[in-house]
Amino acid sequence: MQLGSNKPLILILLSLIPLLILISTLVIVSSTPRSLNSSWFSFSFSWNPEEIKPLSTALSSSASSSFNASLPDVHIAGGPYFPPPLEKKQETWKDKRYSKLERLEASLARARSSIREAARNGSLKSTHEDPDYVPQGPIYRNANAFHRSYLEMEKLFKIYVYEEGEPPMFHDGPCKSIYSTEGRFIHEMEKGSVYRTTDPDQALLYFLPFSVVMMVQYLYVPDSHEIHAIENTVIDYIHLISHNHPFWNRSLGADHFMLSCHDWGPRASTSVPYLYNNSIRVLCNANTSEGFNPSKDVSFPEIHLRTGEMSGPLGGLSPSRRPILGFFAGRLHGHIRYLLLEQWKDKDKDLQVYDQLPNGVSYDSMLKKSRFCLCPSGYEVASPRVVEAIYAECVPVLISDNYVPPFNDVLNWKSFAVQVQVRDIANIKRILMGISQTQYLRMYRRVKQVQRHFMVNAAPQRFDVFHMTIHSIWLRRLNIRIRD
Ligand SMILES: *[C@@H]1O[C@H](CO)[C@@H](O)[C@H](O)[C@H]1NC(C)=O
Ligand SMILES: *[C@@H]1O[C@H](CO)[C@@H](O)[C@H](O)[C@H]1NC(C)=O
Ligand SMILES: *[C@@H]1O[C@H](CO)[C@@H](O)[C@H](O)[C@H]1NC(C)=O
Ligand SMILES: *[C@@H]1O[C@H](CO)[C@@H](O)[C@H](O)[C@H]1NC(C)=O
Ligand SMILES: *[C@@H]1O[C@H](CO)[C@@H](O)[C@H](O)[C@H]1NC(C)=O
Repeated sequence: MQLGSNKPLILILLSLIPLLILISTLVIVSSTPRSLNSSWFSFSFSWNPEEIKPLSTALSSSASSSFNASLPDVHIAGGPYFPPPLEKKQETWKDKRYSKLERLEASLARARSSIREAARNGSLKSTHEDPDYVPQGPIYRNANAFHRSYLEMEKLFKIYVYEEGEPPMFHDGPCKSIYSTEGRFIHEMEKGSVYRTTDPDQALLYFLPFSVVMMVQYLYVPDSHEIHAIENTVIDYIHLISHNHPFWNRSLGADHFMLSCHDWGPRASTSVPYLYNNSIRVLCNANTSEGFNPSKDVSFPEIHLRTGEMSGPLGGLSPSRRPILGFFAGRLHGHIRYLLLEQWKDKDKDLQVYDQLPNGVSYDSMLKKSRFCLCPSGYEVASPRVVEAIYAECVPVLISDNYVPPFNDVLNWKSFAVQVQVRDIANIKRILMGISQTQYLRMYRRVKQVQRHFMVNAAPQRFDVFHMTIHSIWLRRLNIRIRD
């Protein structure tokens, strides 16, 4: 009886030896020793565009990039990792699970070092082969590192979607509004065609599939300015999954992510301190003054899909047929628009700023015949106008403070967009006139190139907006190491 029950155990242990040897070799080969002594869950570095981290510098080494913050710093807490010695191992079901975690972490360590190596190459063009698309040129902070990271993601990334919660507030979301990127992402994860695993032990990240837009629709009493019901729903949900599964407690939420395009996405996340402080928050409303932390959180785009699909043709007139220098039309939402309209409405024939377009003038056609399209923040920092401009091949002019634009971790926004601070609204015309024809043409071409990353496809295609969002989330996962 005793012998019989021990035999399988010995067999399991024996079969583990080659695996452990493999893992330790990989880990030793791939992790550069580091002397970080912080514990694994503390995000000890604060991000700020001026601050240069060694790895970020390496990753943003492309000559034309003027930003230095790049792919997030790979933060390997606790120093290099070695699996525990075999003899100390006691085989219980728990240990088996954790050895899976160790294996996952070893594969991430390998990915990190391969991205680092690619980053050091400094080539403006990816040196990796790809049947679909080879990232190149100054629209990327580091085309080679991005491509390497993208390929590693395709190989390794697995996300577990919690099944708890009922539609419509869970597992569902809007697909036909300015918040459509929230619904489309949730639906795509639910469909599970890519990246999803149904085995939580195989997952690198855990997705909390709630929709703040739906919660607002079902729980918010209009004009009450009272969001406790939404906060409580989030609290209850985290409570539920932290009791039903071991994963939340294991990392205190650090390998979990939520996603929301709603203005109140950030507020909904403050109800659970670990969700706010530890989890990856994927937000349209990426306002650094409201706690958005670019090394941990992800900025993704707001895209207004009126019909649920990408409507209207892509593209616009060629540069020589764009008579309007700058264009904006939109309501007075928030203080930045107020400043813009006050300064420029009906003031200038080159810089056409409207709160209401004249009858018979089409918004889309204005985008297509303007060289620059103004994208001021509204009630919150993000604006669907940025992607509208990119679709219309109009160089976007981001007018905002404290906004981290989408996919800022891989895209070099300065190369294809103009960034204007709110205090410079009065100088917009001067700033745009100061951009030479040659530089404008370059930016125009880059806008066309970057379109691919903002495309919404019925079935996601490589490098489109869905995959870019996933890629940004993947990069945040590379920044942490989960341990039991
Ligand atoms: C970026 O880093 C380079 C090299 O470290 C430095 O010379 C440059 O001034 C930095 N640029 C910015 C905008 O911080
Ligand atoms: C970059 O990678 C390419 C292809 O692997 C190689 O030919 C080139 O020498 C590398 N450049 C540097 C600076 O390492
Ligand atoms: C996670 O921690 C909470 C609070 O400490 C506890 O109540 C809960 O039972 C734990 N969950 C699991 C699955 O152990
Ligand atoms: C996040 O952590 C800080 C410091 O530990 C704490 O003061 C703060 O209340 C936390 N944030 C939230 C929203 O709970
Ligand atoms: C960003 O957050 C700050 C602090 O809450 C707020 O004052 C500012 O208005 C926000 N920006 C926008 C455009 O809403």
